[in-house]
Amino acid sequence: MVIKWPLPLLAAASKQICRWSNAVLAQEELFVQGDLQECRPLLKWAGGKTQLLGEIIPKMPKKYGRYIEPFFGGGALFFAVRPAGGVIADSNPELINLYRSVASDVDGVLTQLRLYQNNEEVFYAVRAQDWTKLPSTEAAARTVFLNRTCFNGLYRVNKKGQFNGNRPN
Ligand SMILES: C[S@@+](CC[C@H](N)C(=O)[O-])C[C@H]1O[C@@H](n2cnc3c(N)ncnc32)[C@H](O)[C@@H]1O
Repeated sequence: MVIKWPLPLLAAASKQICRWSNAVLAQEELFVQGDLQECRPLLKWAGGKTQLLGEIIPKMPKKYGRYIEPFFGGGALFFAVRPAGGVIADSNPELINLYRSVASDVDGVLTQLRLYQNNEEVFYAVRAQDWTKLPSTEAAARTVFLNRTCFNGLYRVNKKGQFNGNRPN
């Protein structure tokens, strides 16, 4: 699945989602942290390239045309370089729903995120939901919530494509 639109919207909106994540991970009251200086991936993602950015970025051409990232995942490079436009793609529809929703309605995603309490009961109730049956912003919030609060923070699904990560004890 491919997304084409003014991608800077996604980069800008990611700061708000990351602020939520930081607060939850720090177990602090939500939305009290200062502004993030940099955009970061919204999710922790297997194979994410954040640790390699120091090697990748110097190898990028100084000038390039359209930014195209076909295996987007967590988009570590994208959030680091914040291209002016381009195309991002991934075969994972849940991921694409997340990025579309954040870019088009970050407030809707945040409203839903604020409703979640970071506890076991809520985690497993949210995990049991079928994201394809939720409104897109709620599905996006669910993806962030489960990714950021599950054990090891990694997206993991069963054979039916249902998220099956557990909550840390
Ligand atoms: C290793 S991750 C990319 C990590 C990314 N560079 C980062 O920094 O987070 C690979 C991604 O490619 C996607 N993918 C795998 N096969 C694909 C395909 N045939 N077409 C599009 N996306 C694919 C997966 O869903 C996954 O999100």
